[in-house]
Amino acid sequence: MKSSNSSNQALPPLKRILVLGSGGRENALAWAMCKCKTVEKVWVAPGNGGTEHHSGCTRLNVQEDNVTTLIDKCLSYKVDLIVIGPEGPLAEGVADKLRAFGLAVFGPGADGAQLEASKAWAKELMQEAGIPTAKHWKVTTEEEALLIVEKFQSPLVVKADGLASGKGVTVAETIEETNQAIQEAFKGKFGASGETVVLEQRLQGPEVSIFALCDGEKMVLLPPAQDHKRLGEGDLGPNTGGMGAYAPATLLNKAELNEIKKLILEPTLNTLRRRGIDYRGVIYAGLMITSSGPQVIEFNCRFGDPECQTLMPLMQPELANILHACSLGRLEQAPNLLVSHLCSACVVAAAAGYPESPRNGDLININIQLNKSLQIFHAGTRSTNKNEIYTSGGRVLSVVAQGESFDSAFKNAYKGIDAIHFDGIQYRRDIGHQVRKF
Ligand code: AMP
Ligand code: GLY
Repeated sequence: MKSSNSSNQALPPLKRILVLGSGGRENALAWAMCKCKTVEKVWVAPGNGGTEHHSGCTRLNVQEDNVTTLIDKCLSYKVDLIVIGPEGPLAEGVADKLRAFGLAVFGPGADGAQLEASKAWAKELMQEAGIPTAKHWKVTTEEEALLIVEKFQSPLVVKADGLASGKGVTVAETIEETNQAIQEAFKGKFGASGETVVLEQRLQGPEVSIFALCDGEKMVLLPPAQDHKRLGEGDLGPNTGGMGAYAPATLLNKAELNEIKKLILEPTLNTLRRRGIDYRGVIYAGLMITSSGPQVIEFNCRFGDPECQTLMPLMQPELANILHACSLGRLEQAPNLLVSHLCSACVVAAAAGYPESPRNGDLININIQLNKSLQIFHAGTRSTNKNEIYTSGGRVLSVVAQGESFDSAFKNAYKGIDAIHFDGIQYRRDIGHQVRKF
């Protein structure tokens, strides 16, 4: 286990940052990194059609897993910090390979990324740490799984163990549906990710996303956020990556958030550390607030999308220094995390056919005047050399607004998204229904 890198020397300068990823989360992270006064330049690899809309941001046409080229670029551009957005490269050990060249990386190594990349591994860690979570069974054969359902005589949640782009979970309503999901997983629906399956008792309650920025040993929490996973209004329809969010989620007050830090986040980081894992990055705990208290539904090893787009505008410029300090294992030397008192609202616009088979290539028309409390973060977009923007992915972009109340924030977010047009645009009109009055 690496010991803390505490040092009396000041943190090294932070001037050049590389963000890895191409989604709305990375677009928002890059925008937030540019706000830091000492930062001169932010690259995003591979970025998207909106990367260069933020002043100070440049696209780097290198894929997240092209480690050899990334290392070359980071060394020749003298990059001070790399922030890795998505779980794929983290699980593949991209952070480890960059660190091996002496680069400062915000994002866990492949060992810590198992928190997200193996649900069974995460469940075992939760048990070891005494963290409240649903009862579970890890199974490796269909027969074993079906026997558990027969014994339990109740529908269960069926989860592919490995990464499955958010599609590996079935919250079954009936025993038949549970059995069907088990059979599909063992028939190879999720490839190698479904060779091991986790069955879970179904919990009930509202969900909330908690983000802890960790330096291996210490952590600081962001305000809680609430996502909207279903495609349709009224929280109906298929699951998606997330159709909108708001923060701070009113489900938890400051004291409850602090309680969750002590009960869930700190024991998680301490247990990782006990296992010899130096976790420098985000621990994202997806919680369900049940009648018997908060329970962990899942852990992720990265920021949530679209929670990240919602939260970034609430962060003051020193966020970049905090991520940098985490990457160096020296959070105690970072400035305090200052968070705006405003409410933030985010609405996602998705392409025709999302989530099943999103259509690409629709021309996007944006008629909005941005201001300091209204942002657009691009995700599935590409720009042409004529400066036209086309859809190029499922979730196309998000509009985020801040206000003194959730009503004013959502009014502005909807005013913004109503001024965006492309054929087949889909968005929910009820994001934030939990906290707004109109
Ligand atoms: P995950 O991919 O683990 O985030 O799961 C996707 C969604 O499935 C979660 O956001 C929950 O809405 C739901 N879910 C997962 N596990 C459970 C559970 N044990 N009980 C009820 N719902 C669950
Ligand atoms: N917003 C859910 C996720 O990022 O997994």
